[in-house]
Formats: sequence, structure tokens, C-alpha cells
Amino acid sequence: MKTLPTLILLALICFLHHSSAGLNGPGKVFEELCCPSFSKRLIPKPKVKHVAKTPSRCKTTAIVVTTVCDETSCIDPEWRWAKKLLAEFKKATANNTSPSAPFNISKCDKQKKQQ
Ligand SMILES: *[C@@H]1O[C@H](CO)[C@@H](O)[C@H](O)[C@H]1NC(C)=O
Ligand SMILES: *[C@@H]1O[C@H](CO)[C@@H](O)[C@H](O)[C@H]1NC(C)=O
Repeated sequence: MKTLPTLILLALICFLHHSSAGLNGPGKVFEELCCPSFSKRLIPKPKVKHVAKTPSRCKTTAIVVTTVCDETSCIDPEWRWAKKLLAEFKKATANNTSPSAPFNISKCDKQKKQQ
């Protein structure tokens, strides 16, 4: 009987199809994050790869910073430093360009040698 393997294969194809249909482009990943809480953490701009506010559907509003090491931090949205960072980042990416200096210029380096 070949029915069972065929069914499994069909189910798998179906599953793969559905899961890939639900994916956004790589650039969208940043926008999907919610923050359960936030803190005040100062991240040097060269290490900042992306800055965004949490989407409005999130219960908690925060400023989400992604570092060049692909770590995300949720930061106090009322903190002046974070607000400034968000504004500067928006300016640096105003034309849908990837972030330019002073952002995203440091390599991921967990030893923090460059500071
Ligand atoms: C963005 O666009 C504006 C006007 O279209 C232009 O003056 C500016 O140089 C551009 N900035 C970058 C970083 O490309
Ligand atoms: C950050 O810079 C790296 C290389 O320095 C580049 O590959 C990457 O695409 C940049 N990230 C963003 C979000 O533009």
C-alpha cells in the first residue's frame, strides 16, 4: 500500500506551502516584535542595526533596538536618549536605505574591544 506515505508527503507539502505563505520579507521581521517590559540600556550607535517602536497591537509600547549581534533590547519609550535614537535612526533611513553612519558600522564583537 502506498497510500500512507503519499498522504504524509501531501500533508508535508501542504504544511510547507502554508508556512512559507505566512512569511514576510526579511525586512519585516523587525516590525513584529512586542516587548513584555523594557529597561534603560544605552547602546552605542555603531552597534545599532535597527530601531523601531513596537507595533500598536502590542500591549506595552517600547523602543526596540536591534544590535549588530542581532540581539534585541526593549527600551523605555519615554527615555530621552531612546527617543533621540529613534529620531536619528529614522533620519538615517529616511529613503528606505539601510542605516548609514553613525549606525550599524561596528562589527559584532562581544568582547567590546573597540570602545
Ligand atoms: C533622501 O532623499 C532626499 C530627497 O529625495 C535627498 O535629498 C537625500 O540626499 C536622500 N538621502 C539619502 C541618504 O539618500
Ligand atoms: C549592517 O551592516 C552590515 C555590514 O556591515 C550589512 O551586511 C547589513 O545589511 C547592515 N544591516 C542593515 C539593517 O542594513
